[in-house]
Amino acid sequence: MPNAGPLCNDPHVSGDGRNGIRILSEGDSELAERISLEGKVAVVTGAGRGLGRAYVELLAERGARVVVNDLGTDVSGFGKDSTIAEQVADLIRSRGGEAIANDSDVSTPEGGSDLIATTIEHFGRIDLLVNNAGICGSQLFEDATLDDFDHYWRVHLGGPVNTVKAAWPYMVAQRYGKIILTTSVSGLFGLRGQATYAAAKCAVVGLMRILAIEGAEHGILVNTISPVGYTRMHPAAGSRLAEADGRAAMPVEAVAPAIVWLASDSCSETNRIYNVGAGAIQRIAIVMGPGFYDPHLTPESIAENYAKVESIEGFSEPGPFEPGGT
Ligand SMILES: NC(=O)c1ccc[n+]([C@@H]2O[C@H](COP(=O)([O-])OP(=O)(O)OC[C@H]3O[C@@H](n4cnc5c(N)ncnc54)[C@H](O)[C@@H]3O)[C@@H](O)[C@H]2O)c1
Repeated sequence: MPNAGPLCNDPHVSGDGRNGIRILSEGDSELAERISLEGKVAVVTGAGRGLGRAYVELLAERGARVVVNDLGTDVSGFGKDSTIAEQVADLIRSRGGEAIANDSDVSTPEGGSDLIATTIEHFGRIDLLVNNAGICGSQLFEDATLDDFDHYWRVHLGGPVNTVKAAWPYMVAQRYGKIILTTSVSGLFGLRGQATYAAAKCAVVGLMRILAIEGAEHGILVNTISPVGYTRMHPAAGSRLAEADGRAAMPVEAVAPAIVWLASDSCSETNRIYNVGAGAIQRIAIVMGPGFYDPHLTPESIAENYAKVESIEGFSEPGPFEPGGT
C-alpha cells in the first residue's frame, strides 16, 4: 500500500504535476453541476472503517441509500464485530441519511447472498455494488503456503464473486447496475512481502475484464479502483510512516469522490482501472508495445532485436476480444 500517486495537493497550481498529472486550476470545477445520487441504492463491503467508511459517508451525503457491510475482522481477516458496521450506519442516520448495517462475511457464498437479500428487502433495488472488503499482512513468498493464498483469495476475489453473483440477476432485471472492484498497486506494480495479497488483488482485474464484457449487454458497468488512503493496512504491510503523517498525506476521504463519480449517471465508463489517492486520479492501463516481428522468429533474432521487444513506444491497448476472434 505505498503511495503511488503524487502528493501535490495544491488546487491553485496549473499545468502538469508530478507523474505528468494535470493539476486543477482555481475555478475549473465551478462550472460542473453538483452530482446527486438521490434515489440510488449503494452497497459497500468492508465499509465499517478505512476507505469503505469514507465511501458510504460520501455516497449518503450525495443522497444514496446505503448498505454498510462489515464483518468487523482484524486486519488479517480474523474475528468478528458487528458493531463496526452498525456504528457507521448509525452515524449516517444521525446526519439525516438513509443507511442500514449488515455484518455478512462476503468471503462465503451465503454471506454474499445475505448481503444482497437484505439490500433488496430494505430498499427494493441495488444500483451500485462496491467490493471493498479486504485483509492485509506481510509475508515473504517463501514463507507463504497455498492455504495462505487461499485465505487472501477468499476475501479479495471470493468477496466480489459472491456479492456480484447475488446482485447480478437484479441488475440484469433492472437493465442497470454499476460494480466497482478494488485492486492495489501492490499487485499491479509490486511490493515486497505481498505475494498472497497481490495475487488476489490482480485476479480482480481479470474478473473485471469479463464482467465488463458480459455486463455490457445488460447495462451493467464494471470498473476497478486502486485506492491509496492511509489505514491500518499500511502498518500491516510494513509501512513505517507515522500514522498522523500518513493520514494527513493520504486521507481516505480523498478517494471517495471517485466512487461517487463512478456511481453517477454522467459516468458511462466501464472496464477501467483508476489509481486514486492524495488528490490525484489517473487511469492505469495494461498496454502492448508494437514489438518485433519476424516470420521466422529465432532465439537469436529475439536477442538481437530485444530493444524492439522491450519498447512500448507506440503502444496499443488490445481487447476486449470475441471468442474465436484475434
Ligand atoms: N489503504 C490503502 O491504501 C489501499 C491500497 C490498495 C488497496 N486497498 C484495498 O482497499 C480496500 C479497503 O482497505 P482499507 O485500507 O480501508 O482496510 P481496512 O482494514 O481499514 O478496512 C477493510 C474492512 O473490510 C472488512 N472485512 C474484511 N474481511 C471481510 C469479509 N470477509 N466480509 C466483510 N467485511 C470484511 C474489515 O472488517 C475492515 O473493516 C481493501 O480491499 C484493500 O485491499 C487499500
